[in-house]
Amino acid sequence: MCVIETSPVIETRRLALRAPGAHDISRIAQLAGDPEIARMTCRMPSPFRTEDAEAFVMNVAMQDPRRANTFVIEHEDHGPVGVLGLFHDKDRAPEMGYWIGKPFWGRGLATEAAQGALAWAKTRWSKKAVVAGHFTDNAASGRVLEKAGFLYTGETRRQFSRARNAEVDTRMMLWLA
Ligand SMILES: CC(C)(COP(=O)(O)OP(=O)(O)OC[C@H]1O[C@@H](n2cnc3c(N)ncnc32)[C@H](O)[C@@H]1OP(=O)(O)O)[C@@H](O)C(=O)NCCC(=O)NCCS
Repeated sequence: MCVIETSPVIETRRLALRAPGAHDISRIAQLAGDPEIARMTCRMPSPFRTEDAEAFVMNVAMQDPRRANTFVIEHEDHGPVGVLGLFHDKDRAPEMGYWIGKPFWGRGLATEAAQGALAWAKTRWSKKAVVAGHFTDNAASGRVLEKAGFLYTGETRRQFSRARNAEVDTRMMLWLA
């Protein structure tokens, strides 16, 4: 049976992954305003402004939880440090995407958030697989995905990056529950 939770919370050692709210807008705008974040993603605009954070929070509130679940990554000491989303797009399996604010890079937080989200996807969202892709110039994200248990499929896709306004070679990876 597929269990649907409207506002799931995922807890890991240092993090809670929870639904974004209006109170997160200024922090999301501040952290995502660093252009190094958006340029590694497909969908985020650059510059990323307060109105983009507002639109993000509103879009997440309207998501169908059977199709997409997007979380603010909240650190026990530092508050919101990033965002992680699981969503159905082109593939049969849902796709995972994420970003961590630059002041918090290199502490294992993306890996910890991804591991928590994957465990949730398996047990609470009844998913058997999750896909992800990283731009070829984003080895750090490839490493996060490897550490979380993804393997390279061998496929490289050309994916459009809104922030770069260009198509970028993207290495596809797969995680099996
Ligand atoms: C990619 C990103 C999520 C990583 O977040 P993070 O919390 O620093 O990740 P972690 O600390 O869990 O792991 C990072 C790993 O990448 C490695 N790494 C960092 N920079 C690297 C580089 N230039 N080349 C290779 N590996 C690199 C780190 O050493 C670490 O691996 P290790 O534990 O084996 O040493 C963060 O940099 C980010 O948000 N970037 C912009 C947005 C983005 O890329 N989103 C993902 C789109 S696919």
